[in-house]
Parts: sequence; C-alpha cells; structure tokens
Amino acid sequence: PRCIWLTRHGESIDNLVGKIGGDAPLSARGKRYGACLSRFIKYQREENEVLRQKEEELETPINYRRDRTVAVWTSMLTRTKETVEEFDPNEYDIKHIRFLNEIYAGICEGLSYNQIEQLYPEEFESRRENKLFYRYPGMGGESYLDVIQRLNPLIIELERMTSDLVIVTHRVVLRILLGYLMDIDRSKMPEMEVQLHTLYCVEPKPHGTVVRKFKWVE
Ligand code: G3H
Repeated sequence: PRCIWLTRHGESIDNLVGKIGGDAPLSARGKRYGACLSRFIKYQREENEVLRQKEEELETPINYRRDRTVAVWTSMLTRTKETVEEFDPNEYDIKHIRFLNEIYAGICEGLSYNQIEQLYPEEFESRRENKLFYRYPGMGGESYLDVIQRLNPLIIELERMTSDLVIVTHRVVLRILLGYLMDIDRSKMPEMEVQLHTLYCVEPKPHGTVVRKFKWVE
C-alpha cells in the first residue's frame, strides 16, 4: 500500500481506570478522537489525491491503475469499532477482524496491573522477566509470541494490497505491526512506546520505510 495508517482505539472507560482486556466502550474523549481521526484521514486522502493526479499526469504508463478504495480494519472489540463510527461506509471498505483483537490476558482479563501484582505476584514477576515469551494463564491466554503468530496472515495480506489502509487496533497488536513494518527486532516490541490518540503513517518506499507520527491534541 501507498500509506498504512495505524492507531490504537480511542480512550475507553477501562483505560480511565487502568484495566486491561475486557470489551469496554469508549469514553467521551475517546469518541472525540474517533471523530477527529475520520476527519483527518478524509483530509489526507483529498491531499494525496491531488498529488497522485499530478504524478500520474507526469508518468502514467498505459494500463496503470492504482486501487483507490481505502480499507479500514478494526478488531472485533467495541472500542475499535466505536473509534471508526464516523467513517462513512460508502467511502471506506470497513472490516472487523478477530486477528486484530488485543492480546488475551486469560485470568488477568479485566484487572489492573496493580491487582495482577497483588493477586498473582509470581505471574506478574514472570511477565516482567520475559514479556515476549510470557503467556497469560487461563483458557485462551496469549503471549506476545502468540500474537505475532496470529498476525502473520494479516501481514501477508497487508504486503499484498496496493490500496491505502487504516488499521485501528490495540497496544500489543500495534507494537507488533509497527515493529514489523519498521524492522524492529521482536525482542524490543513489548517495550515500544505506543500511546493512545497517536496516529502513525507508514509509507513503504524503495529506499526504506518512512514513518510519520501525529499526536491528537484537543
Ligand atoms: O491490554 C493490554 C495492554 O494494553 C498491553 O500492554 O503488553 O505493555 O502489558 P502490555
């Protein structure tokens, strides 16, 4: 794709109290981020379209076509779906994909990191020691490595596509996707800084990948 836009969902009501996992809706502020995101992407598309037309006038080979439908992928969780509520389904190809769900924290779902430390001190310590390999206990509990594994088919699809793409997902998934696109070693992925309300624009270019970062300020 020409440009891959990546972001976490808007702030959820669980983010406000520091709980991980679960399926909480957005806070009022999170909804405002979603609305602003849709306006920002629309504006960027219009700008890009002007540039593309100029480029094509200059150098379009016969039969040259670029797919201009912009895909929007979210996870299956409420907070990412609500973040794209203001995207017009007539203008975007919106898909909700389970593989983009956040790491599943098993018995720690719905807890804060303080609660995990108090209730399961040994688990808390093992994760601190090796976050990449650590798998949350309980049915369906995942590790970073498990999430890397389940994202593989999506990464193949993403490489294959030629259209622009907007991905609205979660912290762990974003670290992995950005890490992959920026060629960062997987051992560094669990500590990457990816804040809420920050949009990344990744452009694969012949001479390397260009990443731009946009922070939302209200
Ligand atoms: O719910 C998941 C958290 O956003 C994951 O962050 O891997 O740094 O604990 P973490």
